[in-house]
Formats: sequence, C-alpha cells, structure tokens
Amino acid sequence: MSITYKDAAGIEGMRIAGRLAAEVLDYLTPFIKPGITTNEIDRLASDYMTDVQQSISATLGYGPPGYVPYPKSLCTSVNHQVCHGIPNDKPLKKGDIVNVDVTVIKNGWHGDTSRMFLVGDCSIAAKRLCQVTYEAMWHGIMRVRPGARLGDIGHAIQTFAEKQGFSVVREFCGHGIGLKFHEEPQVLHYGRPGTLEELKPGMVFTIEPMINAGKRDIKDGPEKDGWSIVTRDHSLSAQWEHMILVTETGYEVLTLSAGSPPTPAFVPRQAAEQADASA
Ligand code: MF3
Ligand code: CO
Ligand code: CO
Repeated sequence: MSITYKDAAGIEGMRIAGRLAAEVLDYLTPFIKPGITTNEIDRLASDYMTDVQQSISATLGYGPPGYVPYPKSLCTSVNHQVCHGIPNDKPLKKGDIVNVDVTVIKNGWHGDTSRMFLVGDCSIAAKRLCQVTYEAMWHGIMRVRPGARLGDIGHAIQTFAEKQGFSVVREFCGHGIGLKFHEEPQVLHYGRPGTLEELKPGMVFTIEPMINAGKRDIKDGPEKDGWSIVTRDHSLSAQWEHMILVTETGYEVLTLSAGSPPTPAFVPRQAAEQADASA
C-alpha cells in the first residue's frame, strides 16, 4: 500500500466525514459529567450516528490482523489510559480526564477526531497536561504545507511537549486516512526536522499526539481486552486528534465543528484564509 492523494470529490467526502466526527463530540460534550458511564457515552454516540447523521462507526467491529474486533462505537481513555480504552459501566468521577475518540464513515469516507474532557473540577496538573497536549497538536498542524516533511511535524510536537516536562508516546502515531481507516503514511509525534516523507497537496492524515505527564513507556491495560493501553508509571496521559488536508498553500483542518475549542493564539492565520477574507 502507498499514500493516496485525494481529488476534489475525495476532499469533499473527507470534509463531510470530518465534520460529522467532530459533531459527535459536540453532541456528547454536555453529557460528560461526573456519574455518566463510558458505556452511556458510547450509546449516546451510537444512536446519534445512526439516527441523526446516518453515519457508521468505524471502530465497531474494527480488527486489523492480530487484533480482536473492537467492540464499541468509540474509544474512551480515562486518566492513565493512553488510548483505545473500551467503554464500560464504571461511572466517571469528578477530577477524571477522559479522551473520547470518534471515527465515523460517511459515503465510504472516514472522519477521525478526538478531544480531552475534564470531568467536573480537575487538578491543575491534569488541566495543564490537557492544555499542553492540545497546543502540542497545533504546533504539529502549523508545520503542514507542501514541501514540508513528516519529521517537521514530529519534531515540533516533541520539542514543545518535552520543554513542558512531559513525554511523547512512541508506539502509536497519526495516520493517512480516506476510504480506509488507517492508510500510509505513519505520522510520528517525535522526530527530526527535514526527515521522512515530503508533504504534497491532496494528502490527508491525522495528527494525534499522546502525551504523558510522567515517562513515555506504556503497557497493556489490566483489563487484558486486547486494546486498552496505559502508562507504565501510572501517570496521566492526554491525547487530541485532528484530521488534516495538505492544500496548495498550507493545510485545512477537516475535523472542525461549532463546538471545537478555539485555535491557540500562537497559530498564524494562513495565507489562504487571508486571501478568502480579502476577496
Ligand atoms: N480512532 C483511533 C485512531 O485515531 C483508532 C481506534 S481503533 C479502535 O486511530 F479499534 F480502537 F477503535
Ligand atoms: Co486516528
Ligand atoms: Co481517532
């Protein structure tokens, strides 16, 4: 397999799928409070996809070779869970942080995005980890333009996260996406500038750094469900995910919606946006 470049119809398909994935998160946001279980979140999302969006969950039944089929319509990773947490009947409690990762399929195209949610009041340390991880993702996004390289993205994320005293998980990465859930290339969240694949217009991939408050090492979760991953030192972990199109002049974030958190102030307004605004 190799990188797929999306044409105008593919880009439109990915815009729609990306917005729908983000809108599932918008819909879930007011429900994510102390007392709700992650299974209830899963059910709300599943019903919304089916009844409101007529979209399909890409995670339900997803099982690459060597994996058991994933049993739920989204992933919920709580506190020291790094990723791929499977929803269950345990209520969220005040002070928890939870990543909700939604991937929908619409007209064959995949939309993949995740956000962190603070459950009630959280510690300053937990809030800082979520904020730094959000900013780390945007430091990566800002590097996307034709001619840049994947290593530029990873380097930007790693240097920012490590400067804040946090660590970058190495075992999971962003990915190309389109008619398939996981396509080439792999998008590492660490690395050296000027290395790896050159970015070209029409590429679509996710940037989805997993950042740990402690050491970067991970292990399988105690559930032994074949999916859940936790930090080895039990420290908190956070993740955000956007799906990015490489445009002729820079990038377009495909997973924005009315409820997306604001873009950090350090992100420059893009040339393309400025051209649109002045036209
Ligand atoms: N949404 C995840 C990603 O960003 C993948 C989840 S696969 C699952 O790539 F099977 F765990 F749901
Ligand atoms: Co992804
Ligand atoms: Co995802």
